[in-house]
Amino acid sequence: MNILLLGGGGREHALAWKLAQSPRCDTLFAAPGNPGIAQHATLVDLDPTDHAAVLAFCADNAIGLVVIGPEAPLVDGLGDSLRAADIPVFGPSKLAAQLEGSKGFTKDLCARANIPTAGYARVTNKADAHAALEPFGLPVVIKADGLAAGKGVIIAMTFAEAEAAIEDMFSGSFGEAGAEVVIEEFMTGEEASFFALTDGTSILPFGSAQDHKRVGDNDTGPNTGGMGAYSPARVLTPALEARVIEEIIKPTVATMAAEGMPYSGVLYAGLMLTPTGPKLIEYNARFGDPECQVLMMRLQDDLVTLLLAVAQGTLAELGTVTLSSDPALTIVMAAKGYPGTPEKGGAIAGIDAAEAQGAKVFHAGTALAGDTLVANGGRVLNVTASGATVRAAQAAAYAALDAIDFPTGFCRRDIGWREVEREGL
Ligand code: AMP
Ligand code: GLY
Repeated sequence: MNILLLGGGGREHALAWKLAQSPRCDTLFAAPGNPGIAQHATLVDLDPTDHAAVLAFCADNAIGLVVIGPEAPLVDGLGDSLRAADIPVFGPSKLAAQLEGSKGFTKDLCARANIPTAGYARVTNKADAHAALEPFGLPVVIKADGLAAGKGVIIAMTFAEAEAAIEDMFSGSFGEAGAEVVIEEFMTGEEASFFALTDGTSILPFGSAQDHKRVGDNDTGPNTGGMGAYSPARVLTPALEARVIEEIIKPTVATMAAEGMPYSGVLYAGLMLTPTGPKLIEYNARFGDPECQVLMMRLQDDLVTLLLAVAQGTLAELGTVTLSSDPALTIVMAAKGYPGTPEKGGAIAGIDAAEAQGAKVFHAGTALAGDTLVANGGRVLNVTASGATVRAAQAAAYAALDAIDFPTGFCRRDIGWREVEREGL
């Protein structure tokens, strides 16, 4: 079958790598892709906001499955346009993607379905926000309702900070995303991510991961999209995972279906493991980036079979997802300046040498300038390795990373520290 993959980051390189390994995959197309994805796919120039163009491409190229990597096309309803044309698509509908696209929508769903999450208030103006603030105490969490590329969350330590964040959001700093604001109770605990495939009815757990959001070593500095990740997150014990499925994932899938917006795709639950049990922080409607890279490294099954079963509503026919018991770890090499303005165009060499060490280097933000591979984004490479322990995976990933010559890049040197500490080897 021919497959079209949309997106061009490290997540999509990891998906392309696995999709292309499938005996069921004939030609893999990717739009826009990147030089790493080009090793596995034919790159095509397609604008995902032009639904008619995507449909025409699918018809012309006998596409049997479209895999949507990032959230924007999902929230924009590309999945609906494809479904209306009977083209199997991996990724939720516009209504279902509200689980990521509107924090207020998700909080209301949690309230209706009795899903454990932080207490909250939805507000649409400064006066209401001001009135709602006090009962939450401090710290208090202020969030722009819509998609804000990971930047729309402020944890305010004082009421003055909270008021300033509210002022900022309602004055348009986040555009439409900030037209509505969610105020949340602050939760304490360790964070972990849990992934599950669902076709709207059946649920197939897809493992756990933890990422490192801060730019600097020892979890310091500003937030990023993620500077590294590892899977599994062993802090999410089998007992806790069972609770997450029962208390969070199942009621979400059942309520979405019962309310006429069945969710089909991967549900990525951001969790806080609080003293009273796991609580939902937020949902994403797609695989995490860079969490996807470590999940794909551990996946033992045929990815096309899994994603197609989700797209066609036949997930119940598959047993389980098999992930290697060996943990995997990925380190993000970013361009200097990230998460502010990253330096563009810095030359990169040594990827073959890194891969000769047994790691896989996914391209996240690269481009070709003539024959030279150069940085073309904030997060540039994801150096990914597995091992019998997280410590071994970490050692393998850093050994490979050190073979890469990327003078305008940087990385954290402590990815996986929590888990390595827990292993206590
Ligand atoms: P979100 O974009 O909703 O995942 O929030 C980004 C980050 O903010 C999360 O990964 C948490 O570290 C933090 N956060 C969000 N909501 C809360 C909350 N209610 N309590 C504590 N931390 C939170
Ligand atoms: N790494 C966080 C995300 O993909 O949203």
